[in-house]
Amino acid sequence: MYSLILKGIKNTALKTKDNILIEVKNIKKSFTNLHTIEDISLTLEKNQFVSILGPSGCGKSTLFDIIAGLEKPDRGFVFIGGHQFNGRTGRVSYMHQKDLLFPWSTILDNVCVPLILKGLRRKDAAIKAKKHFPAFGLEGFEKSYPSQLSGGMRQRAALLRTYLFAEDIMLLDEPFGSLDAITRKKMQMWLLKIWEKINASILFITHDIEEAIFLSDRIYVLSERPAIVKKTFDIDIKRPRDSSMLTSSAFNNIKKQIFELLY
Ligand SMILES: Nc1ncnc2c1ncn2[C@@H]1O[C@H](COP(=O)(O)OP(=O)(O)OP(=O)(O)O)[C@@H](O)[C@H]1O
Ligand SMILES: [Mg+2]
Repeated sequence: MYSLILKGIKNTALKTKDNILIEVKNIKKSFTNLHTIEDISLTLEKNQFVSILGPSGCGKSTLFDIIAGLEKPDRGFVFIGGHQFNGRTGRVSYMHQKDLLFPWSTILDNVCVPLILKGLRRKDAAIKAKKHFPAFGLEGFEKSYPSQLSGGMRQRAALLRTYLFAEDIMLLDEPFGSLDAITRKKMQMWLLKIWEKINASILFITHDIEEAIFLSDRIYVLSERPAIVKKTFDIDIKRPRDSSMLTSSAFNNIKKQIFELLY
């Protein structure tokens, strides 16, 4: 019932303080001689899908490391659920840009890692993880090894592992970056479907303008390094979305605006 209500308000999320899950305020970050992030602020509301789009090397992954608490900002704050989280880990599920599965472990053992880290016994972790295999298109592949899966399946296994970390906030750093165009489109459709079911709030990094528009409620377009937010786009295109959206005038209008901003 609660999930239905949340789904119903997904497109009309009230912009109240209570609804904000992640608030990044005026983050600045340099590495020794490299001024990476100049000033980034953003918000992620409950059940939103928010993308970050920007040139290679502008600091997108660094920003995720800061939100996940793996790096500390030189200035600024990360608030999660209203609490300050600078330098604190463990609150978000984070799929790194190069999130590899352990080649020597089965898919089931791979996705059980976060549950075991959380203290579940191996047997209980397996029972919990297995329940999600059908939704993630992995049923029947529990005992397979990563090398026996297609690229898309490996990405779905990595996504399931990420999902099992904390379940409600997910940071996904270019999860489909290495996939061919057809598989990538299929994965985008699949991600939208699964996201509607799991009530997660997602921050998503991509280089792909179409992918960002197709998936997102909001897009933050970043500048070259040192990064600032160049522009924010609210994507008020109704959900559920399907491939017909890709040829709509609303879609192409936003695409043109973002393209002109980046190139
Ligand atoms: N731990 C680190 N120490 C020193 N420099 C770093 C570190 N992490 C990242 N950098 C540098 O910061 C800059 C931004 O890196 P980052 O990985 O955040 O970029 P990005 O926007 O994610 O790029 P891409 O789109 O190619 O993934 C890069 O020049 C990188 O070399
Ligand atoms: Mg990166």
